[in-house]
Amino acid sequence: MKIAVMPGDGIGKEVIKQAIKVLKAVENKYKCKFEFNEVLLGGAAIDATGSPIPQETIDVAKSSQAVLLGAVGGPKWDHFPGDKRPEKGLLTIRKEMGVFANLRPAILFPQLKAASNLKDEVLGDGLDIMIVRELIGGAYFGEKKRVAVDGGYKAWDTIEYSTNEIERIAKNSFEVARRRNSKVTLVDKANVLESSRLWREVVAKVAEDYSDVELNYMYVDNAAMQLIRNPKQFDVILTENMFGDILSDEASMLTGSLGMLPSASLGEGNVGIYEPIHGSAPDIAGQDKANPIGTIMSVAMMLRYSFDMEDAAKDIEAAVLKFLDKGYRGLDIMQPGMKVVGTEEMGDLIASEI
Ligand code: IPM
Ligand code: MG
Repeated sequence: MKIAVMPGDGIGKEVIKQAIKVLKAVENKYKCKFEFNEVLLGGAAIDATGSPIPQETIDVAKSSQAVLLGAVGGPKWDHFPGDKRPEKGLLTIRKEMGVFANLRPAILFPQLKAASNLKDEVLGDGLDIMIVRELIGGAYFGEKKRVAVDGGYKAWDTIEYSTNEIERIAKNSFEVARRRNSKVTLVDKANVLESSRLWREVVAKVAEDYSDVELNYMYVDNAAMQLIRNPKQFDVILTENMFGDILSDEASMLTGSLGMLPSASLGEGNVGIYEPIHGSAPDIAGQDKANPIGTIMSVAMMLRYSFDMEDAAKDIEAAVLKFLDKGYRGLDIMQPGMKVVGTEEMGDLIASEI
């Protein structure tokens, strides 16, 4: 089982190291073998080669079944032009791998209720929302331009979506909903954007094949508010690239911390990119402060979706819960009376539960 490993920048390197410890524990338990091939992406790649994504990185990814990715970016490269920034590397690898469906589960573990920013009565018995974010279209990939006008500039980014692109992600979200609570909320801005109106039409059409799944629609501004007011109304949130980026950061705080949330980005086959939803957090990089749980939970998703190892995926999820049950916490989810441990120790303790 070949895994392309792209630690990237900042805390990316630290959290990836912990995720690999966990995969080694899985190797031991299941007598299987992962082949790890580490390659450069983002700022680290710019420093070494001048490009945020050298050809070797693309080649290694394409000959692997899964990509395990940390995070990219940092102040050092912030002044670089758009197509030479670390983020360009991340967007390119997503596009090259054709992973259009980004699954971002926001699950509140009962152990972390106190770490959520919401009141107990809003959270009830916990939260389990799945954000299905379209990942390789929209404003991220549409035409971008800057031109000089009147002594200043004019700039634009274009949100573009085709029927095909909407159809495939819609199907994906209905399939996901079927395995959950059978409810899809399409989040858009159809009162303003033509692309959103196309989304509504296409998704409604796809829904005809899924009469067992309930579909409703919500404007993105309202959805941002409803996530805080009454998050339990959501099961699957289906949305375009940029809205999904924003709403998944918001949803993460409901679950206690941005550091907790994993993601899986899938295309047509079993190949996937697995990464935490957080960024490279340069302010805490290299200080053993990062929470590796989002990355470790991403590895569980990798075993589930790319390697068909459901038991091992469940082992990892159970190991994280045991770790929390024993009263251990990372700095970002620290609560009074709990044992606070650093990144390395979190990785060791979780791996040892497996
Ligand atoms: C994410 C990140 C990326 C995105 C950035 C780093 C380009 O915020 O994965 O959510 O916007 O997709
Ligand atoms: Mg984001």
